[in-house]
Amino acid sequence: MRWSASASNSQPWRIIVTARGADDFTQVANALQGSNAVWAPRASMLIVACARKVDDDGNVLRWAVYDLGQSVAWLTAQAESMGLSVHQMGGFDPDVIARAFDLGEDIEPVAVVAIGRFDAEASLPEQLRGREFAGRERLPLHDIVLNGWPLD
Ligand SMILES: Cc1cc2nc3c(=O)[nH]c(=O)nc-3n(C[C@H](O)[C@H](O)[C@H](O)COP(=O)(O)O)c2cc1C
Repeated sequence: MRWSASASNSQPWRIIVTARGADDFTQVANALQGSNAVWAPRASMLIVACARKVDDDGNVLRWAVYDLGQSVAWLTAQAESMGLSVHQMGGFDPDVIARAFDLGEDIEPVAVVAIGRFDAEASLPEQLRGREFAGRERLPLHDIVLNGWPLD
């Protein structure tokens, strides 16, 4: 993720890296909401992906969240290439993270990223287990290419 491109090479990604069993992992897990609190604490690692919103001169880093997302995408590609599974989550309370890690107002926790080994035998509530094996879906091209080309 560190070598990802960013606007003016501002590198606005900041991360909190925690491993299961450590106190800071528990602090991240405590911020998870809904079903994320059921499955994600079983992951080997929880990473909080944060965006730095202003630079040293107080200028707003307008593309910070875009840059952060791109860097997490690279992290995902690298981890998957190493045989690991990655699952991003927006379902968490950023205030809990900000308080626990004393982040200050310029650092925004944007997503929690679980990394671990996929376990097909894991015991999970039926709904969550079904999701692991459900087919993947995406919008058709004609819904995302706004000007029609090259489909018309
Ligand atoms: C920003 C973001 C937030 C997400 N939040 C959650 C979440 O809170 N809980 C969850 O289980 N999955 C979450 N996901 C995973 C998406 O639901 C998942 O990527 C999407 O359903 C497509 O699934 P697929 O990548 O397996 O095809 C999130 C993904 C992203 C990129």
